[in-house]
Amino acid sequence: MIIGLPKEIKENEYRVAATPAAVHAFVQDGHRVLFEHNCGAGSGFSDEQYIAAGGELTPREEVYRGCDMLYKVKEVEPAEFDLFHEGQVVFTYLHSNAHLEATKELLRRNVTSVAYEDIDDDNGHFPALVPMSILAGKGGFVAALYFMQSVHGGKGLLLNRTAGVATPEITILGCGASGVSVAELASAFGNKVTMLDVSWPAMEEAKKHLPINVEFMQSNRENLEICLKRTDVLFNCILWAKNRKDHVVYRKDLKLMKPGSLIVDVACDDNGAIETCRSTSHTDPVFVEEGIMHYCVDNIPSGFSCTASQTLSAATLPHALAMANKGVERALLDDAHLRRGLTTYRGQLTLEETALKHHLSYVDPKTAIEKYYQG
Ligand SMILES: NC(=O)c1ccc[n+]([C@@H]2O[C@H](COP(=O)([O-])OP(=O)(O)OC[C@H]3O[C@@H](n4cnc5c(N)ncnc54)[C@H](O)[C@@H]3O)[C@@H](O)[C@H]2O)c1
Repeated sequence: MIIGLPKEIKENEYRVAATPAAVHAFVQDGHRVLFEHNCGAGSGFSDEQYIAAGGELTPREEVYRGCDMLYKVKEVEPAEFDLFHEGQVVFTYLHSNAHLEATKELLRRNVTSVAYEDIDDDNGHFPALVPMSILAGKGGFVAALYFMQSVHGGKGLLLNRTAGVATPEITILGCGASGVSVAELASAFGNKVTMLDVSWPAMEEAKKHLPINVEFMQSNRENLEICLKRTDVLFNCILWAKNRKDHVVYRKDLKLMKPGSLIVDVACDDNGAIETCRSTSHTDPVFVEEGIMHYCVDNIPSGFSCTASQTLSAATLPHALAMANKGVERALLDDAHLRRGLTTYRGQLTLEETALKHHLSYVDPKTAIEKYYQG
């Protein structure tokens, strides 16, 4: 198979889908990899490294037109639509719900698309999302360290156990992948850390991985108020249903917080679990509401592109190799977890959530493939 590795064009996106090591894995299995100039530069990988791994430096348009499977990071942008051809596969974060125009283009052009974010595993986790949540949690803590500094608008509190100074208090809502990552760094820095969750198993699992200076409380109104009054930094790491209209932390609750405390909304749902959240960017990351600074960057991992590209590539490569080695249909039929990510196939929408949300017709992925594939 010929694999295409483009340079991402979205603003502030520095990740690349395949590291040179991943390119080497394709080449070793007998495939060709066409890569665009500087595709890995934002993550610290040079063209020379890709060439040494067996990749072929190719003009951008040829990367798209000449490959069987385009292996990328971000959703498909309008500038890319005309570069796709019938029967081609695109393997990327698609977010087909939010990017309906792109989804319709892929359907119209008979492109087979497989979304990273919808591939699950035996435990019901989403292995291509977890590495990014882990980075977002850690990056969120790094941002808190930065924005608590007086020179960056904070109250000048070092988030660290310091002799002679009251230990800072950190509250984390949600004990999932991102919440535990915040807690790992916050506790390692010696802070007093409290995690709240509605799920007892989630708290119990998190407790196994975290030290003794992390306590766990049921997420309810009473406990939230206790934490809001004492916290220096509040992290929101809740996976929040997009259609919910209520909140966990309401605008009026910000008045309970100490002056100069900070909210880091890792989950970053506009008007979501934190009523006052609105997503921000790396170039303009914070705003103040009710006297409380908010950090709500919606793509924290892209700030750590070198790390992110390596963890993302490791998470997606086994599936990309399976599709290259077996052929896309066979790989999808053999693996129900990969098939869960199939979004468009021969002009049919095969991702149920997107079909339901936009009232579009939907075909079960297995049925759609078996109709055409006899192998
Ligand atoms: N900002 C970014 O750059 C970035 C990057 C990656 C992920 N995210 C987002 O971060 C969010 C969290 O991701 P994750 O992988 O950690 O999710 P996760 O599913 O691993 O964990 C979410 C946790 O929230 C808990 N929860 C649900 N309702 C709660 C409530 N009312 N109070 C307290 N806890 C509650 C759940 O029980 C679960 O343990 C997602 O929305 C994800 O899209 C943001």
